[in-house]
Amino acid sequence: MKVLLVGGGGREHALAWKIAQSPKVTKLFCAPGNAGISQVAECVPIAAEAVHELLQFAKDQKIDLTVVGPEQPLVIGIVDTFRQQGLRIFGPTQGAARLEGSKVFTKRFLEKYRIPTASYGIFDTYEAALSSIQKDNFPLVMKADGLAAGKGVLICQDFGEGKEALEVFFRKRAFGAAGKRIVIEEFLKGEEVSYIAFSDGEHFLPLASSKDHKRIFDNDQGLNTGGMGAFSPTPAFTPDLEKRVIETVIRPTIQGMKDEGTPFEGILYVGLMLTKEGPKVLEFNVRMGDPETQPLLVRMKTDIIEIIEKVFTRRLHEQVVEWEAKTSLCIVMASGGYPGKYEKGHVIEGLDGIQQDVFVFHAGTEWGIGDKKGKIVTNGGRVLGVTALGDDLEEARKKGYKAVSQIHWPHVHYRRDIGRSQSNEKG
Ligand code: AMP
Ligand code: GLY
Repeated sequence: MKVLLVGGGGREHALAWKIAQSPKVTKLFCAPGNAGISQVAECVPIAAEAVHELLQFAKDQKIDLTVVGPEQPLVIGIVDTFRQQGLRIFGPTQGAARLEGSKVFTKRFLEKYRIPTASYGIFDTYEAALSSIQKDNFPLVMKADGLAAGKGVLICQDFGEGKEALEVFFRKRAFGAAGKRIVIEEFLKGEEVSYIAFSDGEHFLPLASSKDHKRIFDNDQGLNTGGMGAFSPTPAFTPDLEKRVIETVIRPTIQGMKDEGTPFEGILYVGLMLTKEGPKVLEFNVRMGDPETQPLLVRMKTDIIEIIEKVFTRRLHEQVVEWEAKTSLCIVMASGGYPGKYEKGHVIEGLDGIQQDVFVFHAGTEWGIGDKKGKIVTNGGRVLGVTALGDDLEEARKKGYKAVSQIHWPHVHYRRDIGRSQSNEKG
């Protein structure tokens, strides 16, 4: 079968690497891809959000299956467009993608279906939000309603920071239309876990647990990013907790979306906080996590295309996923300055000679031009996801950091504590 993968980040490199291994796949294209993906797929220069160009390409090339990596094309309705033209595409419709596209929709949905989450309020003016925070207890969390690449969440420690955050949303309009409405919610304490499940609209198939590290600096300091590293499985997510999350979160969400008339077909990512009162939903995403995909897929033994086909035939309950009984860990190497401004175009040294059991997934990379021809250069905030497999977390960490120490470019930044940071409770 001919497959088109949409996207060009670290998640998509891991997906491309995995899809290319399927015996069912005869040809893999990726739009737009990156330098790493070009080693396992044919990259085509079409942006992930250019839905009509992607549709034309899929028709011209007689693509049998399109797999969508990032959220933007899903939230703007790529699945609906492809389906209307009779093309097979894996992912949620625009209606179902609201679980990621609108935090306001999601909070109301969670409340309606009694799914545990932080208490919250919704605001669309500076004044209303300001008067509400005067009454509230800090810390508080403020979130842009719409998509903001993981950067639209501000954690405010006191009233001063809260007021500043409201200026950022409502006066500076830093998140544009995505921040016209905001959610202000209770700060939850505990350890974060990512739990990802395939769904065919009715049945679901959970993957192994994983854990992301969202802040830019060690010890969870600094701004939130798309994710600076991840590992799988997460020891804190015990089988009992997993059962509880399936019953209190996954099942009611899949049933609720069906009841709403927007059944969820695709990948449901649940961001959880394991609080003292039990697991609570921080967020939903409607696609695989980045960087969680990188450690998950290096452990997954099952053919991912087989799972996707079960979604199309609504027989996901018949599928099992097999995992390598190892721990995997991914360290994100980023451009200095990310998630703010950063430089591009630096040659990445040391990519050759990486040891066995380590996979270097590319995110913001491209092939150089001119005097950098034939070399791989930086082209984004998150640049590489160095992913290692080990018998336990410590071994995966050691292997991963050894490989990281061999790779260089000017102003490279990465966290030294991936696999170490636990709860957000101080002390
Ligand atoms: P979100 O995009 O909603 O998952 O938020 C991004 C990150 O902000 C999460 O992964 C958490 O680290 C943090 N966060 C979000 N909501 C809360 C909350 N209610 N309490 C504590 N931390 C939060
Ligand atoms: N790693 C968090 C996300 O993919 O949104």
